[in-house]
Amino acid sequence: MLKKQLEESLAHLKSKGFDTPEIGIVLGTGLGRLVDEIKNPIEAHYNHIPFFPLATVEFHTGKLVYGTIEDKKVVVMQGRFHLYEGYDFMDITYPIRVMHMLGISKLFISNAAGAINLDYKKGDMMLIEDHINLQGGSPLAFKNVSAFGQRFVDMSEPYDKEMCKKLMTIAKDHGISLKSGVYASVVGPQLETKAEYRMLKIIGADAVGMSTVPEVIVANHLELPIVAVSVLTDECDPDHLEPVNISEIIAIAEETEPKMVKLFRELIKQL
Ligand code: HPA
Repeated sequence: MLKKQLEESLAHLKSKGFDTPEIGIVLGTGLGRLVDEIKNPIEAHYNHIPFFPLATVEFHTGKLVYGTIEDKKVVVMQGRFHLYEGYDFMDITYPIRVMHMLGISKLFISNAAGAINLDYKKGDMMLIEDHINLQGGSPLAFKNVSAFGQRFVDMSEPYDKEMCKKLMTIAKDHGISLKSGVYASVVGPQLETKAEYRMLKIIGADAVGMSTVPEVIVANHLELPIVAVSVLTDECDPDHLEPVNISEIIAIAEETEPKMVKLFRELIKQL
């Protein structure tokens, strides 16, 4: 069933001219502008791709864009799917499987996240080195998962060391501050309480957000090397917690976005 659906999605994209991209890129909230860097873009709106989940959140444009950046063929997801929109784990990771079928051999992910590590500030970027899944489930918990890869996927190194190292060097060379740390994923959409922020710190998170981890789990299932960056949009200090304003989160993500675009662009160039 899943295989058939993926094949239909694939056939649609191929018929539109999506031709064996090397790199797949998922753009998070307020981070959609990388698509402006794409040469000869071909767009496929999510609601026109057979079996794709439909985009619901108003600030997500919801399209796949194929083309080249730095002469490399890329496919970019402008807008992703979240559990908090009412989708399930299979829905939100479906696009990762489609991009894999298209032929990508590397995956870049971005997201907006709250800073749990208080040495990190609003507008900082953080390379995700490891994660904690607090979403209460797995995108690999389905009956015929073994038709798509191993069931008991190793997660000892979910993020590709080589690409992480490259990205750190790129940041340094361009004078861009790039922190690193552990990303905890929650379901949302409510933000966290002070007690929850305290807990997240205690369990070892440096940042918290509502995405990414399911996609990373599926990408590991598909043996796709991943690099992921969080843009830190708010400071989660339980002792001085300010009410979070979602439009401020988006504004901070948008302000930081040019630096993230630069990092991704340079990494594409070097691969
Ligand atoms: N918590 C969860 N998700 C988020 C946050 C946060 O503080 N900031 C941006 N995404």
